[in-house]
Amino acid sequence: MTQDELKKLAAESALAYIKRDMTVGIGTGSTVNHFIAALVRMKHDIGMTVASSIQTEQQLKQHGIEFTALNNVGTVDIYIDGADEANTHHYLIKGLGGALTREKVIASAAKQFICIIDQSKKVDVLGNLSPVPVEVIPMARSYVAREIVKMGADPVYREGIQTDNGNQILDVHNLKITDPVIMEKMLNNIPGVVENGIFAKRPADVIIMATPEGIRTI
Ligand code: 5RP
Repeated sequence: MTQDELKKLAAESALAYIKRDMTVGIGTGSTVNHFIAALVRMKHDIGMTVASSIQTEQQLKQHGIEFTALNNVGTVDIYIDGADEANTHHYLIKGLGGALTREKVIASAAKQFICIIDQSKKVDVLGNLSPVPVEVIPMARSYVAREIVKMGADPVYREGIQTDNGNQILDVHNLKITDPVIMEKMLNNIPGVVENGIFAKRPADVIIMATPEGIRTI
């Protein structure tokens, strides 16, 4: 199976968690796009959706699925999103698609967070495959980058990208993430950081991982 077929398998398996009248938070990325395509079958049964990015809003529009702002619903019953890395503690790295801040807000507001991945995203130690994206306000970018260098890591400015919140992204390579909960806090304590892509304070509740042998639920 190709990686995209595995993403589709994971995404379609998440439909089993969606119940009648639920408010469904929707992440961002290619795995989530498969989920949106599958959700069309249930679009008259669910209550409402909340999108984590403008890209996802566009996908929902294309599929005729209604969405609203998080402010209008307060909480969501379930949040479905992909990840760039996931470990067995359900900690994640997210944000290669640039939507990490809105994703983390909706995940935090959600009663249940289901993460959908193909097996290539599973790691023992976070940071082995993916850099950690850090969203910064534009005027703080080089200050934040220097603070991250002091932590022994290598921030790289993601040039030409503006987030949906009008901010910029530093992709942080070679960060030693021995304790994801502490590292998530440390990065967010740097003035000018809006949010970072370590999801440890609000980990996933369930990880649906697609493998060539079928679905593994972690
Ligand atoms: C976007 C994300 C995505 O969930 C992550 O990048 C995985 O993307 P894909 O499903 O395309 O592999 O965090 O900000």
